[in-house]
Amino acid sequence: MSDSQIGNYESLIDGLMTQNFGLVDNFLSEDLVVGLRNNLIKLYDHGKMHPAGIGKRFSYQRNLKVRGDQIFWIDKHSNDPYEQNFVEQIQAFVEYLNRTCYTGINDFEFHYAYYEEGSFYKRHLDQFKVDQGRKFSLVTYLNDQWLETDGGKLSLYLDDQEISAFPLGGRAVLFKSDEVEHEVHAAVRPRMSIAGWLKVHKP
Ligand code: OGA
Ligand code: MN
Repeated sequence: MSDSQIGNYESLIDGLMTQNFGLVDNFLSEDLVVGLRNNLIKLYDHGKMHPAGIGKRFSYQRNLKVRGDQIFWIDKHSNDPYEQNFVEQIQAFVEYLNRTCYTGINDFEFHYAYYEEGSFYKRHLDQFKVDQGRKFSLVTYLNDQWLETDGGKLSLYLDDQEISAFPLGGRAVLFKSDEVEHEVHAAVRPRMSIAGWLKVHKP
């Protein structure tokens, strides 16, 4: 693991511990961003993505007034080299987080997300009442040359302030799933990301 990656881990964790959220750029390398973005575009073009819903299992429902992204879950044992690399990056980060903060993360899940132009995800919390396992939310972005005028910002609603983050390729945002309400604003172009959760399963 490179020193710069350790620096990224440290700033993400420092932000998480002191402000409930962390943000770093270049969490994913440019090569990895391009490879994952090409995968995502291919999935979208081949009709492999499915509309995201809200809630879990029996309470799961699609509601375009709340959430308009399309998703595809990443297989931890994927044969795709970019997905393998991505999973390794997440594993390395989780090991670092557990070693330095005793967080006890023992599982994770990630999906690609494609927000068509104009779609959004209204203010919400990521932890479901029926699934307490999600501890931390980690979103990484796959967009090329994103401009503020493209819209699509992520707003985080903290106790005393509102934070905005644009979905720049390679950027990572980490926050506590059960505490930080957040919202994805509509963009004027497709918005691509990988969103996921670091989890603790109790025996
Ligand atoms: C989510 C989410 C944030 C983003 O998928 O639950 O809030 O910036 N994503 O894509
Ligand atoms: Mn969310």
